[in-house]
Amino acid sequence: MENEILLSKLAEKIRTCTLCPLYQGSTNAVPGEGPADAKLFFIGEGPGYYEDQSGRPFVGRAGKLLEETLSKIGLKREEVFIGNVVKHRPPENRDPLPNEIAACSGWLDQQLAIINPKVIVTLGRFSLAKFLGAEKISYVHGQARRVGNYIVLPMYHPAAALRNGSLMREFEQDFIKNKELLQSPEIDLKTEDPEDDSDQIKLFS
Ligand code: URA
Repeated sequence: MENEILLSKLAEKIRTCTLCPLYQGSTNAVPGEGPADAKLFFIGEGPGYYEDQSGRPFVGRAGKLLEETLSKIGLKREEVFIGNVVKHRPPENRDPLPNEIAACSGWLDQQLAIINPKVIVTLGRFSLAKFLGAEKISYVHGQARRVGNYIVLPMYHPAAALRNGSLMREFEQDFIKNKELLQSPEIDLKTEDPEDDSDQIKLFS
């Protein structure tokens, strides 16, 4: 309960953020949504038109694909936290700029600190860069890696999958391949006993 309150107080601050110029051209900030005790935290790039209009993340076509893909592995969007690297919409859906990402990163860090998810699923290259620096998404997608206390699972962005049929197949396969980890992130973390690697998820290093 306490974390829910902390998260909603944080969302209030995000809604009035003026740390970078993006707020000037946007209708609503999109702080993100999901349970304060979510085990999975999905991170996209930034709000698009529909997200800007509604103040909610991933409610357009990319969001529909994300929801459908989650349901293929038995998950509902309400069970996971969904956020973005930048909380205000970049004009014309352009890529967020380094200064915008830097200005916004403290919000994401605070959300992560409150929720403390087991698995962070990065959607696209901007959230990938936050955790895995210069790694190329085409090499690392679908492969879980431990980063500090988190398991980071890089995925293609659903909007990229919508634009490119072969990425669509990879996007779906990456979810299916990681079904166990996504369904039971807690169990996978508990198999860390170095004496027992029987159930250990394959993390690349
Ligand atoms: N694309 C994103 O990266 N985030 C959203 O919230 C919607 C589309």
